Amino acid sequence: MNKFEISRRRSIEALAGFLAGSPLLSGQIDPIRDHARVPGIKELLTAFEFEAVMYAKQTRAVYNYRAYGEESEFTLRRNRLAFDWVKLAENKAGTSNTGSATVDTSTEIFGTKMAFPILVSPTALHGDLDKDGEQSTHKGAAAASNTPMILSNNSSLSFDKVMSAASSPMWVQLYPKQAMDANKAYLEPAIAQGAKAVVVTVDQLATVYERSQHDRNLNATGGGRGRFGGGGPVPAGNPYRISVGRLWYEWKFFEELRTFVKVPIVIKGILTAEDAKLALEHGVDGIYVSNHGGRSLDYGPSTLEVLPEIVDAVGGKVPVLFDSGLRRGADVLKALALGANAVCLGRVPLWGLGSYGVTGVTRVLEIMQAEFVQAMLQTGCTRLSAINRKIVLANFP
Ligand SMILES: Cc1cc2nc3c(=O)[nH]c(=O)nc-3n(C[C@H](O)[C@H](O)[C@H](O)COP(=O)(O)O)c2cc1C
Repeated sequence: MNKFEISRRRSIEALAGFLAGSPLLSGQIDPIRDHARVPGIKELLTAFEFEAVMYAKQTRAVYNYRAYGEESEFTLRRNRLAFDWVKLAENKAGTSNTGSATVDTSTEIFGTKMAFPILVSPTALHGDLDKDGEQSTHKGAAAASNTPMILSNNSSLSFDKVMSAASSPMWVQLYPKQAMDANKAYLEPAIAQGAKAVVVTVDQLATVYERSQHDRNLNATGGGRGRFGGGGPVPAGNPYRISVGRLWYEWKFFEELRTFVKVPIVIKGILTAEDAKLALEHGVDGIYVSNHGGRSLDYGPSTLEVLPEIVDAVGGKVPVLFDSGLRRGADVLKALALGANAVCLGRVPLWGLGSYGVTGVTRVLEIMQAEFVQAMLQTGCTRLSAINRKIVLANFP
């Protein structure tokens, strides 16, 4: 038996184990389960299936770091449930159609032109999933109709390396540092190298990441940064599992950032209308509704539930971005119908990267794009401006 056969068998075993407990099974009869091999990329039909292949191909710790949510993972589950609680209306004889057979999904945010209202969310450490890390993600995203990518502050590769790999637009994400010079040292080169916007993430104050903590204790590699979410050192003897890195946040941070950041500034992690209004008062150019994919405050709301009140509070003054839980093109449509200007995908492109590298990223994004177009047509929308609250009925508990 050669090396390939051993790893193939392991892959199949892992895949079978994953599928046995997979949420896929409750949604539809799983088309992969009964087959004794890992499917090829062309056989994958939905984003969920890429997760199963990534699970089969990567180590448990690498998979775990991408999969978990905070604590009991209720918000992680709620992010998905929320999409089930929003009904789509049938196409009422094409009432919002223009009579044209073509669908226009293009849009522009902060001068960033997009073929679809979809970007790649910032996520850490792509080097665990692919030897070329974020360069592969960027290449894959660029090949999927030039999808823009937001590079994580915890990336495996520097901004310039990732930027040079492909041509799709890039924004840069920042976890605020108390010493303003540290923010400057990170952001200024990225902006000079072409970052079109700065995304400041404010939603991780005291996260623990229990599943990754176990992996670290067991010395598994690839379990991410583990314990405190990369928020900086933990003070010796701290009994509350709180990192010192993020407890000093004040709204004036945004005014200070503005003194040297001349590109648009977006605040990521907004979940209330009140915070959205405060953010606007402090001069941000964009609101990004996110609960970090259920990795921040467990038992916080799903993002879809709070989206309408935030959109109302923003009142069209700045663009509203949205993520957490999107897995289907219809999810994109629902978020747009409830007022988002564009959505971002966190785990979905990671599943593409961890299963089939560059081509996996491209394919999984293309699937989301195609499903989005199908959902638009089903609801009689041939352009983004036709998507509004009339095509959805939200019934949140
Ligand atoms: C493995 C992983 C790493 C992440 N790393 C970051 C990060 O470095 N910076 C950040 O702002 N958000 C980070 N996030 C949150 C994502 O930007 C995004 O908000 C979230 O993944 C959206 O939810 P979804 O995965 O359900 O699409 C991370 C999420 C995951 C799953």
